[in-house]
Amino acid sequence: MHQSSSGMYSSVEFFNLCIFFIIILLEKSSAAHYQYEACVPKACGTLSIKFPFYIRGLQESYCGHPGFELSCSNSPAIHLTEDDYVIDNIQYENRIFRVHNEAVSTVGGCLPQIRNISEDSQLGIVDTSRLHLLSNCNSELPEVLSSYKVNYCDPFNKEDLGLVMLGEDKNLTIALQECNTNVLAPVEVDKNGGNGIVDYEGLLRKGFLLNWKVADCSKCERSGGRCGFNEADGRTRCFCPDRPHSESCKPLSKNARGREMN
Ligand SMILES: *[C@@H]1O[C@H](CO)[C@@H](O)[C@H](O)[C@H]1NC(C)=O
Ligand SMILES: *[C@@H]1O[C@H](CO)[C@@H](O)[C@H](O)[C@H]1NC(C)=O
Repeated sequence: MHQSSSGMYSSVEFFNLCIFFIIILLEKSSAAHYQYEACVPKACGTLSIKFPFYIRGLQESYCGHPGFELSCSNSPAIHLTEDDYVIDNIQYENRIFRVHNEAVSTVGGCLPQIRNISEDSQLGIVDTSRLHLLSNCNSELPEVLSSYKVNYCDPFNKEDLGLVMLGEDKNLTIALQECNTNVLAPVEVDKNGGNGIVDYEGLLRKGFLLNWKVADCSKCERSGGRCGFNEADGRTRCFCPDRPHSESCKPLSKNARGREMN
């Protein structure tokens, strides 16, 4: 029955063994480049995360751009200036994403501590109004300001009281004279909203849009690649199944080839 059990392979067995090793070799040589493999988009909450973002601990830092590191608990969040902002959606094709201050989601009926957010060369705030969060105000406030009073959730000033009004509000000039601390939170308001009492919790929860100005990845993605970042030269790369390219997995056209090595 077992004619080959003496230790010699039958020709059929030898043939099968050869096929087996050939398959192994083919698989090895056809495996995609490790950076292309590593930068596959990952889910966080309902969002798909890819360049310029990367999730700390879940994706390699070279899969994103410096400054675009996210944390992921239930939803993705990004640290901007001094606060964490929850990301509610990302429009990769338009390079914009919607955020709201993380402190806002956890509380209700009071104003959490929010700090100024600053723009930089990589991230800009898309055309919004500003909500002025005023604190350290004089104890005797003019009557006209009384309807703007709010309570802070976590008292960090003596009276635990502040004023909230939009940048367009006509009473803002008076308020600025009465309060020593002013923090500006970007918010989106209707054309006719501007004066008087605002639903500050609703506005802060709705959040605002940010747009990123770092490398556009559409050309790379259209060619089947995944964008990433090369820390050595501080430039964006297009990770392709074969190897990293500069812009696209497809060879450049003849006239473009002279300008840049792909
Ligand atoms: C200032 O606020 C009061 C409400 O406290 C409002 O009646 C008044 O119209 C506001 N003034 C202006 C110029 O908007
Ligand atoms: C926040 O920014 C505004 C405008 O740049 C500035 O006037 C204000 O003093 C800043 N507030 C704090 C607390 O730094």
